[in-house]
Amino acid sequence: MTTALITGGTAGIGRAFADKFAALGYDLVLVARGRERLESAAEELRRASGVHVQTLAADLATDGGTEAVRERLAATDRPVDILVNNAGFALGTSFRKSPIADEERLLDVHVRAVLRLTNAALPGMVTRGKGSVINVASVAAFVPRGTYSAAKAWVVSFSESVAAELAGTSVRCMALCPGFTHTEFHERADIDERQVPRWMWLNAPDVVDAAIEDLRKGLTVSVPAAKYKLLVGASRLVPRRVSTRVSRGFSKRW
Ligand SMILES: NC(=O)c1ccc[n+]([C@@H]2O[C@H](COP(=O)([O-])OP(=O)(O)OC[C@H]3O[C@@H](n4cnc5c(N)ncnc54)[C@H](OP(=O)(O)O)[C@@H]3O)[C@@H](O)[C@H]2O)c1
Repeated sequence: MTTALITGGTAGIGRAFADKFAALGYDLVLVARGRERLESAAEELRRASGVHVQTLAADLATDGGTEAVRERLAATDRPVDILVNNAGFALGTSFRKSPIADEERLLDVHVRAVLRLTNAALPGMVTRGKGSVINVASVAAFVPRGTYSAAKAWVVSFSESVAAELAGTSVRCMALCPGFTHTEFHERADIDERQVPRWMWLNAPDVVDAAIEDLRKGLTVSVPAAKYKLLVGASRLVPRRVSTRVSRGFSKRW
């Protein structure tokens, strides 16, 4: 029996992971803040696939929230085989206009929670000789664009470092770097999706399929879709000041 714990498993990319894993017959632990939505997602997944679904209401911006999830990750009853650190959000404003509490909350969810949950999950996975951690970063990790990009760059570097440390074990760690994906992410941050050209959009189920394929191949960094592989490759070749200028000019609003 395989069990996957997905943070932010009630919407967008996290929900697409939940649908995919349930279809594969994996049991699930869904983590998010909204209790009602957790329960309705769990019920839909149980009905569609007959898998066991546990819900855990937790705010990953808080110590109490991350501690509750750490406890579940360390449990030996129905142990977690796959951890997807996916919960996240954008602020939709520039750094100089953003209240410091929001910037810190962003780091807490995108960095501190990923650090704490990965730390709780790995010992059991290594002892059991199987397991995977998928850390959802972003192509934003490769271009300087506020605290969000800096946090996602940390997620990529952290995942690469953990993956290297796990070499020789049967446990994997991979950073997933999607481009613009249709989810609730932009609406929640009050970002107008129309600013992004249509060709740049991905669908969450396609992102998840690519991630699972790349995890099977043993990749450490997964960039779904050929167009984003090209953009990420180009961003590594052009001087940093050029990618910074392109990134800044991309949106006038946020
Ligand atoms: N969409 C994109 O274009 C895109 C591109 C690249 C990377 N990403 C990354 O993909 C990940 C998922 O984003 P998405 O687009 O799927 O967003 P989404 O549709 O807005 O879903 C976000 C999920 O995270 C949960 N969440 C948010 N804050 C939380 C907190 N403090 N504690 C616990 N759960 C929290 C939400 O549930 P509650 O609100 O109920 O807590 C929801 O389930 C994020 O890490 C994001 O940075 C997104």
